[in-house]
Amino acid sequence: MDVIRIEGGHPISGEVTVEGAKNSALKLMAATLMASGTTTLTNVPNISDVHTMGKVLKRLGATIEVVNKHELRIDTSSVDRWETPYELVAKMRASTAVLGPLLARFGRAVVAMPGGCQIGARKIDLHILGLEALGVQFEFKHGYIYASAPNGITGTVVTLDFASVGATENLMMASVHAKGTTVIDNAAREPEIVDLANLLNEMGAHVRGAGSPLIEIEGVPELHPVTHSVVGDRIEAATFLAIGGLTGGPVRVRGFEPIHLGLVLKKFELMGIEIERGAHEATASRKGPLRPVDIQTLPYPGFPTDVQAQAMCLLSVADGSCIVTENVFENRFMFASELDRMGADITIEGHHAIVHGVPQLSGAQVKAPDLRGGAALAMAGLVADGHTTISDIHHIDRGYEGFVEKLKSLGASIERLTVPDEDLLDSE
Ligand code: UD1
Repeated sequence: MDVIRIEGGHPISGEVTVEGAKNSALKLMAATLMASGTTTLTNVPNISDVHTMGKVLKRLGATIEVVNKHELRIDTSSVDRWETPYELVAKMRASTAVLGPLLARFGRAVVAMPGGCQIGARKIDLHILGLEALGVQFEFKHGYIYASAPNGITGTVVTLDFASVGATENLMMASVHAKGTTVIDNAAREPEIVDLANLLNEMGAHVRGAGSPLIEIEGVPELHPVTHSVVGDRIEAATFLAIGGLTGGPVRVRGFEPIHLGLVLKKFELMGIEIERGAHEATASRKGPLRPVDIQTLPYPGFPTDVQAQAMCLLSVADGSCIVTENVFENRFMFASELDRMGADITIEGHHAIVHGVPQLSGAQVKAPDLRGGAALAMAGLVADGHTTISDIHHIDRGYEGFVEKLKSLGASIERLTVPDEDLLDSE
């Protein structure tokens, strides 16, 4: 098995450029299904989730040419299937993003039902309820969702119970060819939603209001293929800025929009981290102690749940106590118990984590519980005393391209190793 091994205490500073956003690239790839022909996506991260979405598209009949690792030329003219199998949905829940595009193109889709995952139940009831309002009929059998729109998709007002990112995206895509106008009320406002709306509009769709809680989609008969660059990854940027703040830095992060991290950067500043904002970049450094700051995760523009673990890592060595509240996902505190193994003092009470700062973390053998938790354990390893070995790093590979190389370039003593399972158990 592959592990990451880090020796803590080495000075960290320098510059990294983030890739295109994972959470945008996956949906943009799904959206290419709606414009028959070759759509070119640039600034696509070379990560395992993108490879999985590539497999989904190929299963449906698309061909994909990869140019210079970050450009995908996706030809969807021969797509003639509408079924997404369980083995791919089980690997990556975002595979369900093809539901909307397949309904728009074929008026039907068969998608395996995603089961629970490590960060909670992650239901798709809001996707289903919204699509039903647009005239889609559903049958659930043998672990699959059979969706069809025998009378076409008809625009209406859909009010979401919760500003779900995935439901907003599926509804936006499914309604692109709808009769009349669709309004998504209480829509998610994430920058990745705006990126998807921009792609759809470049393809000829009429989407207005993306980035606000009210999105209006006026049906058009056809979309055409285009070339589009994926928005920079604000979550990868937040991870490296947190690393600058934890270690003292300075760490300069390029290739994203600081405005997409409004509240994150404000909370980092309240913790005592200096943030210098620039055009498509920011720099994080710190001279004084880290201060405790309460955080609660919320849909954008609230504090992102995808930065909760990195923030908790910072707070675990802050000078005092604070509370981190997770409002978006259940079970997203698995990282805390791993960090406790490294000497942190975090107690979980329901969806609150009470974090008492400790002066020093101590290197240990830990397991990446999920994507962001895995990255946050590597962060912790950079300042911990001695060696930290992280297993289950396939989680990190899902969303961070060249994570080890980027940390090495900042001065970290870090390596990726393949070790037999029994060696890992024997080591200290
Ligand atoms: C996306 C992101 C993920 C991010 C999350 C919240 C991708 C690939 N993933 O996930 O990184 O953490 O947004 O910013 O883009 N819910 C329901 N019913 C539904 C849909 C959602 O109850 O039909 C619940 C979920 O269980 C979860 C919460 O709503 O508790 C948020 O989910 P959602 O915003 O849909 O997140 P995802 O699109 O799955």
